[in-house]
Amino acid sequence: MTRSLWLDTTQGTARRQPPLPTAADVVVLGAGIAGLTTAYLLARTGRSVLVLEAHEIGGGVSGHTTAKLTAQHELIYHRIGDAAARYGGSQLAALEWVFATAADNGIDCDLERTDSHVHTTDPAQLPELRAEVAAAVAAGLPAEYVDTIDPPLGAVGAVRFRGQAQFHPRKWLLGLAQLTEADGGQIIEGVRATGLREGDPSIVRTTAGSVRAKDVVVATHYPIFDRGLFFARLEPTRDLVVAGPASREVTGTYLDARTHHSVRAVPTPDGRQVVVGGEHYRVGDHVDVNARFAKLAAWAREHVGLTEVRYRWSAHDMSTVDSVPYVGRYHPRASHLWVATGFGQWGMTGGTAAGMLLRDLVAGEDNEYADLYDPNRFSVRAAAGMVTANATVAKFLAGDHVRALAKPGLANLRPGEARVTSTVAAYRDESGALHAVRAHCTHLGCLVAFNNAERTWDCPCHGSRFDVDGQVIQGPAVHPLRRVNGKEER
Ligand SMILES: Cc1cc2nc3c(=O)[nH]c(=O)nc-3n(C[C@H](O)[C@H](O)[C@H](O)COP(=O)(O)OP(=O)(O)OC[C@H]3O[C@@H](n4cnc5c(N)ncnc54)[C@H](O)[C@@H]3O)c2cc1C
Ligand code: FES
Repeated sequence: MTRSLWLDTTQGTARRQPPLPTAADVVVLGAGIAGLTTAYLLARTGRSVLVLEAHEIGGGVSGHTTAKLTAQHELIYHRIGDAAARYGGSQLAALEWVFATAADNGIDCDLERTDSHVHTTDPAQLPELRAEVAAAVAAGLPAEYVDTIDPPLGAVGAVRFRGQAQFHPRKWLLGLAQLTEADGGQIIEGVRATGLREGDPSIVRTTAGSVRAKDVVVATHYPIFDRGLFFARLEPTRDLVVAGPASREVTGTYLDARTHHSVRAVPTPDGRQVVVGGEHYRVGDHVDVNARFAKLAAWAREHVGLTEVRYRWSAHDMSTVDSVPYVGRYHPRASHLWVATGFGQWGMTGGTAAGMLLRDLVAGEDNEYADLYDPNRFSVRAAAGMVTANATVAKFLAGDHVRALAKPGLANLRPGEARVTSTVAAYRDESGALHAVRAHCTHLGCLVAFNNAERTWDCPCHGSRFDVDGQVIQGPAVHPLRRVNGKEER
């Protein structure tokens, strides 16, 4: 099975104590890095802040990341043109804020200064690396070109950013949670938001009752309310991670711009371990996830001498159509509904920068980055991207129906096997019990697909995930897949 090193090496918390308060100045949905940074900074302004988290602190992507804390976001700077200096400035400011906050408050989160590298194993990509160095330097970032890296990782050239960092994301989040509570904020785990009536005040409906709030911040990773058309302009990509002891010493952080393999190391009670990511795919694609894990482990053995896979996990992040996150007003008419999403695999500084920006927006203060991250910016380029994302979703809606109808029924499913028919998604567990649920995602109706490594139903359209009995693991869906007995499909 899968388990994140970050969750495994921290104590679970006991913040499951409803009843819910009936009102708060600000309700923040989601206790990942974006939500908790926002919550802490707003609690410091004296507002009453309530954080509602469906699972546990850091139980979403922030607890399943690789936690390289850097303003080096693959090769973004030569791609975003005029926005590079402001984007880089906001990300560096977020990084330094983490250092200052950890130092001022004694948060022990294995925060280490280290150089960050984006390399390539493809000589044809070297001109792009040089263009990235030029754009990053022009944007005021600490970038330089280097011919080699250590470990070599097959690199033929690399961009190095000096003085970046890495940390233990869940230790950091638990520290932020304590600071939030010390400033009067309240965090409740195990409560899922299911609906919203926008108004003055707004009313948030949850699995544990309703709460009134002047401001609502949606930091649920994928925004759960379908009123900002986010489903048409976010793309989910899933990455696998393996971790364990290795023979090769690793000090910096590394990402291959061509294959997206990433490498870093982390101190653990059992000694230093490497954390290796890669083998990405679009959520819900019909891939053998177990085989991909095996491939990633083989890559790690070859390149950093991984001696044992102690942990393996996977998660997905959302990319926006122009590579810049959406942080700000949820939709053009919103005045007290806010969102932070679309960090494109770079939410450690991105989610922190989002919290810093949302603090100012909710407090009604100016922020120099507000227009850069405005979710309601629309350029011609963005519109073109939206069309591509929609076309992909349409393919899953239509194509999967055809594929499913062509498949045999469920009667002959063997233990460990799963199958999706035109209406039912079924999995027979090792004891022979059949788990059958409605196959259409409760978000917008795409057919789910089985993830054989995590034994989950994953939706290809916007990345919702469900357990084999249909309970929501990850949104934007907020309602479970209804259980069925499976007989109708036999
Ligand atoms: C494999 C992988 C490696 C990565 N590596 C890096 C890296 O090295 N550096 C980097 O900067 N970024 C990295 N990222 C990206 C980064 O981890 C994410 O961008 C970031 O964690 C997203 O944070 P978030 O707060 O938006 O989401 P999350 O951490 O997912 O937080 C959202 C929270 O909302 C909760 N929630 C969802 N729905 C509801 C609901 N209805 N009601 C209440 N709560 C709800 C969830 O349970 C979750 O805890 C990586 C991502 C992946 C997948
Ligand atoms: S996540 Fe949108 S349809 Fe499934």
